Amino acid sequence: MQGFSWHDGELHVDDLPLSSVAEAAGTPTYVYSARAIRAAYERLRRAFAPLNARLHYAVKASPNLGICRLLRELGAGMDVVSGGELERAWLAGAPMSEIVFAGVGKTDAEIRAALDGRFSPLGSTSLRPGPEAPERRGPVGLFNVESPSELESLGRLTSELGVEARACLRVNPDVDPHTHEYTTTGKEENKFGVDADRIVDLFDATADQPRVRLVGLHVHIGSPVPRVEPYCQAVEVLLRLVDELERRGHRIGVLNLGGGWPVDYRDDEVPPIEDYAQALVPLLETRVQNGLRILLEPGRSILANAGLLLTRVQHVKRGRAKTFVICDGGMNVLLRPALYRAFHFVWPVAWEGPEPARTEDPQLPELEACDVVGPICETGDFLARDRLLPELSRGDLLGVFSAGAYGVSMASNYNDHGRPTEILVDGASATVIAEREPLEALLATEAEAHPLPMPPAGPTGA
Ligand code: LLP
Repeated sequence: MQGFSWHDGELHVDDLPLSSVAEAAGTPTYVYSARAIRAAYERLRRAFAPLNARLHYAVKASPNLGICRLLRELGAGMDVVSGGELERAWLAGAPMSEIVFAGVGKTDAEIRAALDGRFSPLGSTSLRPGPEAPERRGPVGLFNVESPSELESLGRLTSELGVEARACLRVNPDVDPHTHEYTTTGKEENKFGVDADRIVDLFDATADQPRVRLVGLHVHIGSPVPRVEPYCQAVEVLLRLVDELERRGHRIGVLNLGGGWPVDYRDDEVPPIEDYAQALVPLLETRVQNGLRILLEPGRSILANAGLLLTRVQHVKRGRAKTFVICDGGMNVLLRPALYRAFHFVWPVAWEGPEPARTEDPQLPELEACDVVGPICETGDFLARDRLLPELSRGDLLGVFSAGAYGVSMASNYNDHGRPTEILVDGASATVIAEREPLEALLATEAEAHPLPMPPAGPTGA
């Protein structure tokens, strides 16, 4: 696996032994390989090069400024879903024109900030500013609009601020992505997008909006999507809509196919990304030659396998029913196993034996079934259940693989743990890109209780 490999009896990230990283940074800690991020980005870019696809990194996968900056260096645009992510993308160096603003529940305040930097919630920040001065940063390149009501808000706020917005309508194509129900987003019972049969009416109704230009369609069917076919089905729905819209005089210049491109959490689990591209290129290439622009919003496919969670065994408890390996990080640092029963391969960092297969059964002798759990006071707090592992003891360091996407971004302070340190390794150099969250930061907003200022009470009664 790119970025993480065993040699000399020890798991390494790029050129560094992970035990040294843990010693210097403590645990639990997320470690990312810059080489692996570059390789995954480049692979995706190359796969979709026949469509000249523009990659907008889905910031939610791993929003750290250091990661976003690295992706900017590689040339990525940014896909954001909140005012907070918008500011991050901008601080990481993305010009507003290269930011796509998605999200099903945009507030007026968020839309204002995305239209005009003077409404940035950061105000005068001590953080290093983005590429343009706030008052000159202008509107985001594209909004992904999810509902008629949001379109109305965009119309109202562009008029109020005297600016123009370009937008794609997000289509709900009613396609099954064959993924976890919580991350299925393109079926009609999901909250996302607009039903396909309402899209044409919305375009017609928006044609006389002076300041909102609908320039294309957006779709994101789920994440991760372990088969190629649902993408083809979704693209076919989009293309039928494009033809109908163009017949009615609407020019469709952009198709944004979203994210959801999968990765191997287990060895050889999903088709390679090239298979997805090869299936989609024939559907789209003639249109691309005729001027259609294709956007993608990949997150997981760039970050998941470029990041690993380091956690240290605090106690091993052998009960009548089970052996518990109790670590210093659990659902508070990596929620995916608890929330989705997601599989993450776990293995000790110090390991002299042959390379284990990354599956539930690593196919090696003398393994013991364990539950790898965290310190949180819930039975649902686990990183791996009934997992075959070599004999472990207190102090051992474990690597939790494929944790680079939706790891830190979904971490919490539950039970008053600070969020973990993040380290970006590039070759033999390691950089702290996020400090472990100190307890003072957790308590800062509660330090001083004070009365809530209320609007003056109006007359009551008749
Ligand atoms: N675009 C949109 C509109 C999205 O909603 C998402 C992810 C992406 C792009 C990026 O998808 P990706 O390429 O990373 O698969 N917490 C879950 C994943 C939730 C994904 C949410 N939306 C997990 O841990 O698996």
